[in-house]
Amino acid sequence: MSANSIPVIAIDGPSASGKGTVSQLVAEKLGFHYLDSGALYRIVALAAKQQGIAWSDADALENMATTLEIEFKAGEIYLNNKIVSEAVRSEEMSRGASEVAIHTPVRNALFDLQQSFRKAPGLVADGRDMGSVVFKDAVLKIFLTAQVEIRAERRYKQPISKNMSADYAKILQDLQERDSRDSQRRASPLIQTPDAILLDTSHRSITDAVEFVLNAYQNILKI
Ligand code: DC
Repeated sequence: MSANSIPVIAIDGPSASGKGTVSQLVAEKLGFHYLDSGALYRIVALAAKQQGIAWSDADALENMATTLEIEFKAGEIYLNNKIVSEAVRSEEMSRGASEVAIHTPVRNALFDLQQSFRKAPGLVADGRDMGSVVFKDAVLKIFLTAQVEIRAERRYKQPISKNMSADYAKILQDLQERDSRDSQRRASPLIQTPDAILLDTSHRSITDAVEFVLNAYQNILKI
C-alpha cells in the first residue's frame, strides 16, 4: 500500500474544542494510528525554553526542531528520551506552542515528521492545518469547534473537579488570544476548508461527536 492510498481523517479546530479526545476515540474505534500535531508544537516550545531559545527566534527554532528526538510510546510523549507528557500540557506551553507555530520555517521543519505518521491501516490526525496543508488529500476532513465560552467553561471545570483553583476570565482570555493568533497568522492559519464538514460540539457530548465522525467516514466508504 503506497502512503498516498492510506486513508487519513483530518480533524482540525480551535484549542479546547475536544478534538483531541474525539480524534483518539475515533482512531481507537477504527484501529487507526493517531497524530496529535499540537504536541509537536508544544515540544518545540518546551525544548526552546530548555535551551534558552526565544519563541520569536524563527531561525534558531528551525535548527533546533530538526534535531529533536520525538517519540509517542504507550500513551506517553518523549523528548530526547525523557517523558514530557505533563510538561507540554501546561498553560505556558499552550501559549508557547501557539507562538512558535506562527513561523513558516518551524512548520516546514515538522512537515515530514507529521507525514511519517501515515501508516496502514489509516491515520486520524488532529491539529489546525491537517486538512488544509499536511494531509490535503485526507478522505474525510472535519472542522471541529465549539463556542469559545463553552470551551472556556470545559477548561475551567477540569481543575475545579480536582479541587484545584481556576480563573474562568483568564482561561477565556487566553483561549481568545490563542484563537486569534492561530487563525490570523500568515503561515497555515486555522481555517475551515470548503471540503471540511463542520462539527459544532457546543451542545454535543464526546460520544455524540465520535458517532458523527464515524458515520461520516462510513458514508464515504459507501461512495
Ligand atoms: O492542539 P493544541 O492545543 O495542542 O495546539 C497547540 C498549539 O499548536 C496551537 O495553539 C497552534 C499550534 N498548532 C498548529 O499551529 N498547527 C497544528 N497542526 C497543531 C497545533
